[in-house]
Amino acid sequence: MKSILTIKNLTFSYDKISVLKDISFNVSSRKFISILGPNGSGKTTLLKNICGLLKPNEGTILLHDKEISNLNKKDFAKVISVVHQYNNIGFSFSVFDTVLMGRFPYINKFKGETKKDIKIVEEAMQNTGVWNLRDKDIREISGGERQRVMIARALVQEPELLILDEPISNLDVKFQISILNLCKKLNEKKGLTIITTLHDINLAARYSDSILLLDKGQIAAQGKPENVLTPKNIEDVYEVEVEILNSEKNGFSYIIPQNIV
Ligand SMILES: Nc1ncnc2c1ncn2[C@@H]1O[C@H](COP(=O)(O)OP(=O)(O)OP(=O)(O)O)[C@@H](O)[C@H]1O
Ligand SMILES: [Mg+2]
Repeated sequence: MKSILTIKNLTFSYDKISVLKDISFNVSSRKFISILGPNGSGKTTLLKNICGLLKPNEGTILLHDKEISNLNKKDFAKVISVVHQYNNIGFSFSVFDTVLMGRFPYINKFKGETKKDIKIVEEAMQNTGVWNLRDKDIREISGGERQRVMIARALVQEPELLILDEPISNLDVKFQISILNLCKKLNEKKGLTIITTLHDINLAARYSDSILLLDKGQIAAQGKPENVLTPKNIEDVYEVEVEILNSEKNGFSYIIPQNIV
């Protein structure tokens, strides 16, 4: 299958503190990939390297066989959109205008937005449950609402690859499922490739084609959820003992944390 993203021997340090060590992996087009790992294991740092906010010390990152550092901002934005872990917006914009900003790679500076742009914005806002907030100031909505607005903004970019850093960390249980369902639908129906970090091991297992498990800046395991999320791997990486329970109702296996090892 065609690769959208290829990472080879990536090494990254903040000053002299080494954070990512010899990371290599491949993401095929149209896959749903989750990156898991404890706090501080390097997930956000890895995503920031992929989206060009940080520069690797060594190694290569290829987007469709091209070095990401060679792509210009607009071309990059048509392929990748990113929802960051922390979204502090210092300026006063309406929620609607904040989402509309995601259309910047397509909007002609002189002609302004078209009916098509507005339609795409409304659809993304309806899908993420923020259409009712459209006239509010982006600084005056809740953390979970802002997280959904930023997801809507990333979607209107109509990327091939959507990168999400803890997209459901502030969401209530209904919106956790609804946002992951939306991502899965876009993944399956429109071929959108997803790379997301998640802390919820069970949701990661349920939605992902493949999991990358990070431990102290290195890949501890990668592959299908059932092969990566074994009690042994979870114990080794998270230092927590787990029990696996199988649900008779939906056939899913659930990983239940027990005690710190
Ligand atoms: N700007 C920075 N300068 C120096 N060190 C940093 C910086 N940002 C993160 N680090 C360090 O790099 C390591 C990896 O951090 P990172 O944010 O990538 O972890 P993470 O896996 O995303 O964690 P979390 O689950 O808490 O989001 C941590 O040890 C962190 O303290
Ligand atoms: Mg992080």
